[in-house]
Amino acid sequence: MSAPRWFAVARAGELARGEVRAIDPGGVPAVLYRDGDRYFAAQRRCPHAGFDLAEGFVSRGALVCPLHSWRFAVDTGIHELSPGVCLAMFAVRIEADVILVDPTPRRHCTPIDPFGDPFGDPSGDPSGDPSADPSADPSADPSADPSADPSADPLPEGDPP
Ligand code: FES
Repeated sequence: MSAPRWFAVARAGELARGEVRAIDPGGVPAVLYRDGDRYFAAQRRCPHAGFDLAEGFVSRGALVCPLHSWRFAVDTGIHELSPGVCLAMFAVRIEADVILVDPTPRRHCTPIDPFGDPFGDPSGDPSGDPSADPSADPSADPSADPSADPSADPLPEGDPP
């Protein structure tokens, strides 16, 4: 494992609770988000259909993608209903009020990502429209886990910040 490379991405307290913002530590597209007083960083592209997670929000311990309401645990990035789907996470630390992120990916599952490149720039398809990319067809979800169907989410989100 390579030595951490820390990049300053924001000041502590700059983000409101529940806020998500795009960051670019070392040129890696990522999101920084705040859950209570904890900060986390994860890949920016949603592994479902490639939506930009910088448009997401934090709710009840999850980073939520607003396109189909997939929910990822704030600390591990694991999908709430499909443990075989997870975000790449990045280490975060705070030093002298500055939030630092190491863009070395850390996984808490064996990832299933139809894009193959979780660090691709989601701005390439700002609509996040799955029909724009046949490989991103949600019905072709490689997890083959019916519980991963976002329409089956028993806790639909309704409280973006
Ligand atoms: S693109 Fe994120 S949940 Fe579908």
